[in-house]
Amino acid sequence: LVLADLPGDGLERLRQRCEVTLRSAGVASEAELSALVAGYHGLLSLLTQRVGERVFAAAEDLEIVANCAVGVDNIDLGAAERRGVVVTHTPDVLTDDTADLAWALILAVSRGVVSGDAIMRRQEYDGWQPRFIVGRSLTGSRLGVIGAGRIGRAVLARAPAFGVETRYYQRHRLPIDTEGELGTEWCPLDELLATADIVSLHASLNDENRYLLNAETMAAMKPGSLVINTARGPLIDEAALAEALRSGHLGGAGLDVYENEPRVHPRLVGLENVVLLPHIGSATWETRVRMADCCFADLITMLADGRVPARALVGTVG
Ligand code: GLV
Repeated sequence: LVLADLPGDGLERLRQRCEVTLRSAGVASEAELSALVAGYHGLLSLLTQRVGERVFAAAEDLEIVANCAVGVDNIDLGAAERRGVVVTHTPDVLTDDTADLAWALILAVSRGVVSGDAIMRRQEYDGWQPRFIVGRSLTGSRLGVIGAGRIGRAVLARAPAFGVETRYYQRHRLPIDTEGELGTEWCPLDELLATADIVSLHASLNDENRYLLNAETMAAMKPGSLVINTARGPLIDEAALAEALRSGHLGGAGLDVYENEPRVHPRLVGLENVVLLPHIGSATWETRVRMADCCFADLITMLADGRVPARALVGTVG
């Protein structure tokens, strides 16, 4: 059961090996998916599709869920594990494009790229002025990356090109050699928040880091600093972010993901110093084709070749 019409020719390859139902419009809800999924051995899901306990309960024959995303917070991995269902995702192929988009937001927020564009379109530009859309110098500033997985590391790796010094935080420190290659250093979260000019989030969402940035942690951030989020919306309390920006404590935000996606907190929409994108971190043709290819290849490996794919997150044993 394939829940989206994905780019590339992977669907044709899958059709040569398996019987396929394509629901190109997706399904409206978890309840609808539960009602539909019985009898299928494989499911290709999008990150917008919740695949929870009730779906697994309804899908007795299910062997694999191939999620067309690197993040798998839409899937109840515990339920998958208990029922012996393999879950795969799409790491690596989207790392560079997502890191690029994080930098696009850093640049856009620092330099008024979007507000400047809006002024030109409204034909309100009436000549060069010394105090007009005056941004902030990236060179010499400090970037704090939270979550140094593949994407976080790719964001760190791009920093020297902009003359930006970096620190990162995650629970486990990277090997010293990796830190050396990236020109970065681990530091405790409170120190990172207090000293970074830009904080960029690259952690996968779990029960422990929901609202990692809340009223209290944002109050501990350096005054005037920027928040960038290309990871998952619920890492930030959006109402608290809107308040920290309105009060002037934070200097700006660049967001690609939202707490209640696809909705964005109405108070963020009214703020000048915010750049809002519609979850397009992996959105290049090259990457979207590669993501689709990963999913179709994993479905074929599992269902036609009878092997557990290397990208399996759970269900790799037993
Ligand atoms: C996108 O957000 C992804 O997880 O791939």
